[in-house]
Amino acid sequence: MDSVLPHVYLSDIDKERFAIETARAPEVTIETLQSVLDFCYEHTVQLLIARCNASDLKTVQAMESNGFFLTDTLLYYQCDILTTPAARNVPHINISPVHPGEEDMVKNMAYEAFRGYIGHYHADPKLDRQKCDEAYASWAYRSCIRKDIADQVLVAKQDGSLKGFIVLKMHKPEEGQLVLNAVHPEAQGSGVYSALVSAAKEWCFQQGAKRITTSTHLPNIAVQKVWARHGFWLTHADCTFHKWFD
Ligand SMILES: CC(C)(COP(=O)(O)OP(=O)(O)OC[C@H]1O[C@@H](n2cnc3c(N)ncnc32)[C@H](O)[C@@H]1OP(=O)(O)O)[C@@H](O)C(=O)NCCC(=O)NCCS
Repeated sequence: MDSVLPHVYLSDIDKERFAIETARAPEVTIETLQSVLDFCYEHTVQLLIARCNASDLKTVQAMESNGFFLTDTLLYYQCDILTTPAARNVPHINISPVHPGEEDMVKNMAYEAFRGYIGHYHADPKLDRQKCDEAYASWAYRSCIRKDIADQVLVAKQDGSLKGFIVLKMHKPEEGQLVLNAVHPEAQGSGVYSALVSAAKEWCFQQGAKRITTSTHLPNIAVQKVWARHGFWLTHADCTFHKWFD
């Protein structure tokens, strides 16, 4: 199901993670900016994490004038499963749904793969580095155990050990989503991720999806290279800003 988020809300998960009263505004426009700020003052928010369309420069500049600073640029991609030919030279790697008992392995792998990552948490010097690393690990773990976060987690194994994972969600009845993915640093560059994307396309197709959507950060060239090989194309971009109120 497609859930509609309010234009600004308190983020329990960020509060729990960083012990800071945090709000999120997923789609700021010039028309909503003032009400987002008013909400934050009213709720004594310390940190606001806000996104706006990257092509909406009026809003970008209004946010900059109000003390927001850029923490990442998110690129959104889409792939049409029914018409896109399969990628070539995908290595044969054992890929299966995550089994009960493997959740901690996925969590530990995510911790290694996302250490010092390029996302908006890590780009904010006021946030604790270790907690930023843990955010992705905890997201990966929760994806393995909670159906509201993920419909499937596929894992890649070689010689019995975990090399990578991909979190999948049916975003809408005809649209699957690649939510979170990573390959262990020691296994990167050998096609593990390409094999995971192939398996993810097959899983989404089996669920009745006609297309797949996903997103990443602008400097993440590796992941975009793989998506391009698998027929994904860029649809739009968002800027993420942080604003501190103290
Ligand atoms: C992104 C990631 C999943 C890719 O996994 P992988 O198994 O290494 O991917 P593959 O081996 O299938 O392909 C990666 C390709 O990108 C290339 N590549 C890697 N880093 C690159 C860089 N900085 N610039 C350009 N190309 C790069 C690799 O050489 C390879 O291309 P090649 O096949 O032509 O040699 C992995 O690097 C990772 O886990 N990174 C940290 C977490 C992350 O970014 N997750 C994705 C969030 S959206």
